[in-house]
Amino acid sequence: MSVEQTLSIIKPDGVQKNLIGEIYSRFEKAGLRIVAAKMMHLSKEQAGEFYAVHKERPFFNDLVNYMTSGPVMVQALEGELAVNVNRDLMGATNPADADDGTIRSDFADSIEENIVHGSDAVETAAAEIRFFFGSDGICPRTR
Ligand code: PPS
Repeated sequence: MSVEQTLSIIKPDGVQKNLIGEIYSRFEKAGLRIVAAKMMHLSKEQAGEFYAVHKERPFFNDLVNYMTSGPVMVQALEGELAVNVNRDLMGATNPADADDGTIRSDFADSIEENIVHGSDAVETAAAEIRFFFGSDGICPRTR
């Protein structure tokens, strides 16, 4: 048994399309538990810091502008192999490449506006959860 935590963001287009409940339902049906959650409107500084690893990439400014264009819903998820379970639910970064039935295939319009973010590894997840919720801002169910 390998219980993990992962960081998920429902991006501005997901909130605008009123998909929070639909996406939370997919998390829960997949066995993921929401152990922290908050809605927030990111500042340019917060978005730039969160995506700092991508700051040399050509789409960095567009990504920051998009992520600050409206409120986002941020949650920490916990469950068996949570990082990959969440990534499987999301589908490929580019919705055109995402498998049928995934969140991005079902709801995303483009690679620029792809509805959700999910941590790509357990170590990244820990840092991302700390970024949004601090070191003791979550309510784990498993210990
Ligand atoms: S990964 O997993 O880091 O390799 O993913 P990657 O494809 O490199 O994308 C990193 C994040 O940048 C977003 N992205 C883009 N935004 C705007 N325009 C373009 N062309 C673009 N390509 C990728 C992508 O959605 C990733 O955001 P997150 O929030 O991490 O999913």
